Amino acid sequence: MRNLARKILRGRSRKNEIIIKTPEQIEGIRRSCRLAAEALDFIEPHVQEGVSTDALDRMLEEFIRDHGAVPAPKGYRGYPRATCISLNEVVCHGIPSERIVLKKGDILNIDVTTILDGYYGDTSRMYAVEPISDAARRLLKVTKECLDLGIAQVRPGNRFGAIGAAIETHARAHGYGVVYQFCGHGVGLKFHEPPDVMHVGRPHDGPVMKPGMIFTIEPMINEGKSRVTVDAADGWTARTIDRKLSAQYEHTVLVTPTGYEVLTDIHGEYPAT
Ligand code: MF3
Ligand code: CO
Ligand code: CO
Repeated sequence: MRNLARKILRGRSRKNEIIIKTPEQIEGIRRSCRLAAEALDFIEPHVQEGVSTDALDRMLEEFIRDHGAVPAPKGYRGYPRATCISLNEVVCHGIPSERIVLKKGDILNIDVTTILDGYYGDTSRMYAVEPISDAARRLLKVTKECLDLGIAQVRPGNRFGAIGAAIETHARAHGYGVVYQFCGHGVGLKFHEPPDVMHVGRPHDGPVMKPGMIFTIEPMINEGKSRVTVDAADGWTARTIDRKLSAQYEHTVLVTPTGYEVLTDIHGEYPAT
């Protein structure tokens, strides 16, 4: 009876239950993840002084659609654009706009989520309009390290809290604030699935990771205070409360029988464990 119940649940979800993806679903999600990462590579040479975030968003939407996919954000809970582009003190969910034009010294996150054959892939990374300040460069480096330390905690039997604990410890050691009002999430069959993947916490808290789970790790790290406020006018743009810089990197990760596979890594940066 227990086993049967488990079998029926494979590849589906009861409310609040973390979906164990089937091999077929994993392959579909892997393809979508690769496309999302390719989109981030594609846009890199276009991230230049004088370009608007509206122009970048349009190029990304065309790239995604030309590859047979749909940009997941567009229309998601009323979100108006294909991607999120978050500059400097914007923590996440920056809405691309003709009025936001890149200038020297800017740091920005571009976040792409694709739906390919019904499967979701979600990834983001930071770009710099050189030259940037030493303080900004330090923030980018430590934020990427936070993502990597989070990923290193992914293995069957470990708890989700271990991811948050590793990230929080590293960020705090550098005097940075960790955003706790937004988190990572299960992903693959839907945009946002259980569980919430916190970027703060304690190693023995949270659900246990199991092979076939797929989720994002996407730490948002602030130069100053952790708190963020959401723009009342647009209902989306999240900014640091002290208007200091924020950075974010995001990967979609699969729990394997022995460790992890970073599904949005197309550069071989994270050999599967
Ligand atoms: N891609 C974002 C994430 O990492 C979510 C964006 S929601 C949107 O979860 F509506 F703003 F697109
Ligand atoms: Co995400
Ligand atoms: Co994302």
